[in-house]
Amino acid sequence: MTGGAAPGLAASPGVANVAAMSVPPAIFAARLDLPDEGATAALAARLAPLLRRGDVLLLSGPVGAGKTSFARALIRAATGNPREDVPSPTFTLVQTYPVPAGEIWHFDLYRLHDGREALELGLDDAMEQAITLVEWPERLGDLVPQGALSLAFAAGEAGHAVTLDGDGAWAARLEGHLG
Ligand SMILES: Nc1ncnc2c1ncn2[C@@H]1O[C@H](COP(=O)(O)OP(=O)(O)OP(=O)(O)O)[C@@H](O)[C@H]1O
Ligand SMILES: [Mg+2]
Repeated sequence: MTGGAAPGLAASPGVANVAAMSVPPAIFAARLDLPDEGATAALAARLAPLLRRGDVLLLSGPVGAGKTSFARALIRAATGNPREDVPSPTFTLVQTYPVPAGEIWHFDLYRLHDGREALELGLDDAMEQAITLVEWPERLGDLVPQGALSLAFAAGEAGHAVTLDGDGAWAARLEGHLG
């Protein structure tokens, strides 16, 4: 489940922040150029085999930055089907896919007004039991889970790029896998 300090710790003001402090610091960050969609697909294919149930990938960035392209390539890599139909969940809000590691739930929260609406879509269960991809994670507000891997996409005159950041656990898992 997301968030929340252990009840025992919260009772004492002096140690109320201990739970937060024990979260691994965001020590991992890497910026990668994605000169074409092939580069995006290659990154997704490198990450897909590393993912397991409970992983949450936050795909941020403005309209057209490449979030869905990355999610589509990751889902195709994970299903092993390069022709897997992966529509943008702009209108359905979430699409699910069976994969060998369990399921991938692909959310697009752009149309949400309140992050709690995501809970009605099954976000909590997904984050616990599936591999969860979230476009427009800003909509979650304080429901953004700790321990997620963030991928911030951007598109400019120089092309597309992504900045990944996560905690120390992600640093260890991704070491040597980013090309
Ligand atoms: N690495 C890349 N190099 C070049 N073009 C790319 C790259 N990644 C995505 N694109 C192109 O950019 C366009 C927008 O991509 P995409 O739909 O993935 O963006 P998005 O971030 O999901 O947008 P939205 O916020 O509308 O959901 C598409 O035409 C896609 O083919
Ligand atoms: Mg999209």
